[in-house]
Amino acid sequence: MDSPASSDEISQRLRAGTPYVLPSLLACDFGHLAEEIREVEAAGATALHLDIMDGHFVPNLSFGIPVVEAIRRATELVLDVHLMLDNPAEYLEPFRKAGADVLTVHAEVLPDPRPVLERIRELGALAGLSLNPPLDVALLEPALPFCDLVLVMSVMPGFGGQQFDPIALDKLRWLAKHPDCPALLEVDGGVNEQTIADCAAAGADLLVAGTAVFGAADYESQLAELNKLARQGVDRREHLQRGGS
Ligand code: DX5
Ligand code: ZN
Repeated sequence: MDSPASSDEISQRLRAGTPYVLPSLLACDFGHLAEEIREVEAAGATALHLDIMDGHFVPNLSFGIPVVEAIRRATELVLDVHLMLDNPAEYLEPFRKAGADVLTVHAEVLPDPRPVLERIRELGALAGLSLNPPLDVALLEPALPFCDLVLVMSVMPGFGGQQFDPIALDKLRWLAKHPDCPALLEVDGGVNEQTIADCAAAGADLLVAGTAVFGAADYESQLAELNKLARQGVDRREHLQRGGS
């Protein structure tokens, strides 16, 4: 394996072409993991979203370090690793070594997220901070200068296939107009044909979708359709910003 990408390189790759969908592997066929990855890569994905669950912070278990290593061997796509863990600080280095390019931790378990975000940056990854639907986004304010990415949950994390909670849209709008928030904005949970344009219109750059991608018969046409709807959402926002009705 080549040396890991630098954080500038990761950032450039993630920022190019936003808004777009990141397939969440939680919804793929794990019996054919490498093939599923090849297929979404061939379908035009830029990055993959990987959900790591500990059975404590969320009431479910998913996969861990050896599987992230295997995914890294299977693809050079950006790996966006969402740590749904009570004690993320203990696992930053192993997940970075396994090939994570973005490491996102939850504000609910970090009264002061700054040292953890700084540690992620020291490891050469992009630092992400996430919040669940019940948490007030204003509580993230002191940590925003240390975030490369903010992940707004639009479901309670733990399971794919849940219904989108529109509270995420208000949080995205708040973050998008915050003067100290140059971070990429990402949304996760219930993103599909019905909700994606609203997410992009509210300011989301990165749109995580599990069921809406892997539940489709043809990944390429589905990614193209979702990305088109996201682009329409941005156009709507820009139109409104110019004073259109
Ligand atoms: C939920 C995870 C999501 C999940 C989204 O706990 O964080 O990434 O895979 O799945 P869908 O797109 O099916 O809601
Ligand atoms: Zn996730």
